[in-house]
Amino acid sequence: MLALLLAAVPPAPFVLPLSNGLYLVLDEALHVRRVAATPQQAEADLQAWTTGRDIYTSLCSRCHGADGADRSYAGGNVKPINGLGRRYSEDELLERTERPGTVDLSNLDARLRHALAVYVSGL
Ligand code: HEC
Repeated sequence: MLALLLAAVPPAPFVLPLSNGLYLVLDEALHVRRVAATPQQAEADLQAWTTGRDIYTSLCSRCHGADGADRSYAGGNVKPINGLGRRYSEDELLERTERPGTVDLSNLDARLRHALAVYVSGL
């Protein structure tokens, strides 16, 4: 069953409709990154997540690692940021991102800030 699913998986993040009416946004490794209630929301989340990943990769991963779990920056004093999406809203995630003064998001417009928050919330 899994092999069948894997064979059918496109080599890019995609939306998987569930029989209970929800829609999952899955990455290439089949990790669930978002859960949406409508196909339109799922497609919007998919686009945002993909854009957010590009932003995260260029601005954040050198200190937080590809998956948000790296704590080696600053002599091991960085707490992991993966899983924060279960505790904080997207606005709170962005506030916490900017508070330490380690990264400047002032060049990001509202769309890109939202995309980054979607990606970080799925870590
Ligand atoms: C130069 C290194 C560096 C870069 C680049 C960086 N961060 Fe951080 N980040 C830190 C440090 C250091 C902290 C403070 C860690 C702590 O207090 O545990 C932090 C804290 C955070 C927190 C708060 C964690 C919490 O528990 O409240 C979030 C969220 C976060 N960063 C997200 C991001 C995102 C998203 C980006 C990219 C836009 C980013 N960071 C870029 C080093 C960095």
